[in-house]
Amino acid sequence: MNADDYRSFADDWESRATIRTRPRRVVENDEKLIYPLSRQPLVLSETFTRHCPHLRDFALIQSLYKFINDVVIFETEIVDRTARSIAKDNFAIRFPFACRYDAMTVVVDEDYHALVAMDFMQQTMALTGIQPIQLPLEIELSRAIPAALALAPEHLRGAVELICVAIAENTVTNDVAAFARDDTVKQSIKGLMADHLLDEGRHSGFWARMVRIYWHAAPKEDREIIATIMPVFIAQYLTNDIQKSFDFVLIEHLDVAEPIRQALRDESQAMCFPINRHHPLVGNIVRFFKTSSMLDFTCVQRALADYLPAGGVQ
Ligand SMILES: [Fe+2]
Ligand SMILES: [Fe+2]
Repeated sequence: MNADDYRSFADDWESRATIRTRPRRVVENDEKLIYPLSRQPLVLSETFTRHCPHLRDFALIQSLYKFINDVVIFETEIVDRTARSIAKDNFAIRFPFACRYDAMTVVVDEDYHALVAMDFMQQTMALTGIQPIQLPLEIELSRAIPAALALAPEHLRGAVELICVAIAENTVTNDVAAFARDDTVKQSIKGLMADHLLDEGRHSGFWARMVRIYWHAAPKEDREIIATIMPVFIAQYLTNDIQKSFDFVLIEHLDVAEPIRQALRDESQAMCFPINRHHPLVGNIVRFFKTSSMLDFTCVQRALADYLPAGGVQ
């Protein structure tokens, strides 16, 4: 695919974008969970269920606040930034008007997602009377993207930024999908996730096509340099340092005795995923490298060897 073959999804956006089609959602005051247990495994731990099960909802509410805070950072500081610069044609790589128009719909969608997330934050505070504990100022991508850019020669910084954002947009999609399927969670929260997912389906395809256009026009030497940077980005993206420090702050705020706090810290410490092909997000990342066609190239296959299924590319 080259830039001239790009077909805009503008009609699809007009008829399906959530900002065009969805009413405001209101958090229900019912017995269902405000956040899926599977996304805050600390509350499922032996120590938590034995010593402080009554604090479960507090922990889940704080975890929802962190999730919302992460969404706002991701949408406004990461995706909005790159999409906006493509839309305004001041990105390092030039794209035709149809791509730029679609990039602007991504800006609108993402800022709207941030607004809806903030609305859920304020509704949850009003419903529960619980204020957020100290929330992180960064997400993993706030560190992983600069780390990747620092390794790129000047003329490839735009390309590396584009690919990193594209990976993130393709990963988040599947992450939100798991959330939307959980029946123990409040309907409004599932609805929020389903709305978001609908828009992200369009975005993931958009970013993969942008990368495909760039990649096929890029010189072989540039593709090889970019391939070597990818593992550094992925390793930083998959770390759980920020989640772990959040869990520690959360544990500080639990009204339990110090030995129980220490046991909870130990449990949280033990709950991290390995940064290799067994990490749950790696399947999504590899899928992106396939749909963007990057994985058709030997330099990318070689660079991603640790993340590909044993036995190589299928
Ligand atoms: Fe989004
Ligand atoms: Fe998105």
